Amino acid sequence: MKKLFLIAFVLVCISGFSQTKITLNTDLAKTKINKHIYGHFAEHLGRCIYGGMYIGESNTKIPNTAGVRNDVIQALKELKVPNLRWPGGCFADAYQWKDGIGPKANRPKMVNVWWGGVTEDNSFGTHDFLDLCERIGAEPYLAGNVGSGSVKDLADWVSYVNQPTGSPMSDLRIQNGRKEPWNVKIWGVGNEAWGCGGNMTAEYYANIYRQYATFMKDITPESKLYKVASGASSDDFNWTETLMKNIPHSQMSALALHHYSVLSWVETKGPSVGFSESTYFKTMQEAWKMEEFVTKHSTIMDKYDPEKKIDLIVDEWGGWYDTDAEGKGALYQQNTMRDAMIAGLTLNIFNNHADRVRGANLAQIVNVLQAVILTNEEKMLLTPTFHVMKMYNVHQDATLVPMTIESPTYEFSGKKLTAVSSSASKDASGALNISITNIDYRKSHEITISLRGEDFSKVSGQILASSNISDHNTFEQPNKVSVKDFSGTKLEKGVLKLSIPAYSVLVLTLKK
Ligand code: AHR
Repeated sequence: MKKLFLIAFVLVCISGFSQTKITLNTDLAKTKINKHIYGHFAEHLGRCIYGGMYIGESNTKIPNTAGVRNDVIQALKELKVPNLRWPGGCFADAYQWKDGIGPKANRPKMVNVWWGGVTEDNSFGTHDFLDLCERIGAEPYLAGNVGSGSVKDLADWVSYVNQPTGSPMSDLRIQNGRKEPWNVKIWGVGNEAWGCGGNMTAEYYANIYRQYATFMKDITPESKLYKVASGASSDDFNWTETLMKNIPHSQMSALALHHYSVLSWVETKGPSVGFSESTYFKTMQEAWKMEEFVTKHSTIMDKYDPEKKIDLIVDEWGGWYDTDAEGKGALYQQNTMRDAMIAGLTLNIFNNHADRVRGANLAQIVNVLQAVILTNEEKMLLTPTFHVMKMYNVHQDATLVPMTIESPTYEFSGKKLTAVSSSASKDASGALNISITNIDYRKSHEITISLRGEDFSKVSGQILASSNISDHNTFEQPNKVSVKDFSGTKLEKGVLKLSIPAYSVLVLTLKK
């Protein structure tokens, strides 16, 4: 009898531990999830721009608008891209914007020193990028050249795109065919200044930043500049501390942070498909580090800016693997359910830190790193990451609902990670959206969600799941991994119950 009781007790404990318990306090929702957390990044790198989004005006094989593929434009509209960062990355600090304006036949060529030493003809420049942003309804985020440019060049770029009339730069823009200014607000003052942006110390960059920011002017009320200081890499907390201390807060709207889910910067990064569970686990460890980094960088910012006036912008994030065979420096990689896990988990982290994280940019948008779109000649496909970003769009500009979560762990080789992550928000119509990602490679998990503060009667859901973690879409099978309706929920007396499959992403919508 005693033995039976003991067995029953152990079973209850085990099943108790494997339950995910979420409590949502809908009545306490107050912080806005800034839509810019869902931003993207397009660099002159591999086939992101040339041969990816931009195939040239003279291409008669692939339907395009001003040289940009129509299928890509359509997909990006569908994705509701809030902002697009360009032209880099490392490339930004080598880019001479004045070489990318005016008649295309007259534009000088350049060598892309950061990415494969390839020669570019500057046919995709400022007008091409800003017109594309208008077409897809995204705010442009221009990354200025601080590493090899000049203060005057960057001040001129601001004037070229934002001055309505009456300056040499606005005259030049009008002469190049664009009458109205674009009113570009978001500006990066360099990129990775500690590395490819100039190998600067934090103190030196802080001074340089002050100088550049001084000459980047607010020209009209519609184009009040939002200046982003080049931020730390992963756990370089000293960088954040030094910039917060040395840059006048009136000169800085946001501070950046870059963190990639990469196995190693010096040894193999592992393949993008056909990886082992050990590799998968390590990628998830790197992805989970985002929680620690965002928390610690925010804490440092709180010390200097307790009112949270300066935003933290994670303007490069995503999975980085060994480049698939595609030529030098192209960073092309396939995108599997593992990438869907990185995206679901990372976006939950950003949403839950919405009080400080007010922007982010997934690296990168087409054919590079954790891309949402892959192209091959006339073919195009949407990756699992595209589907996650689109499913999570319900959170854009919605109000974060505070939650408590107790999750079981995903264990591998004696190491543990939190298996289930989640975030929730209320949208303008009053609907409650809950996103849940289960990174566990082996187990589904039972979830109980207690809804406090408001009553809901209807639930619908969408799920991204697949039978193998390495599953991905190919040009032959572009819909192998796709979003399905999810109906496995039970809602009773303010408690929602469901089971989430191993390595899957779920978004639930509750209405009254
Ligand atoms: O996204 C690829 C590169 O990663 C960017 O150019 C650079 O900023 C970072 O190191």
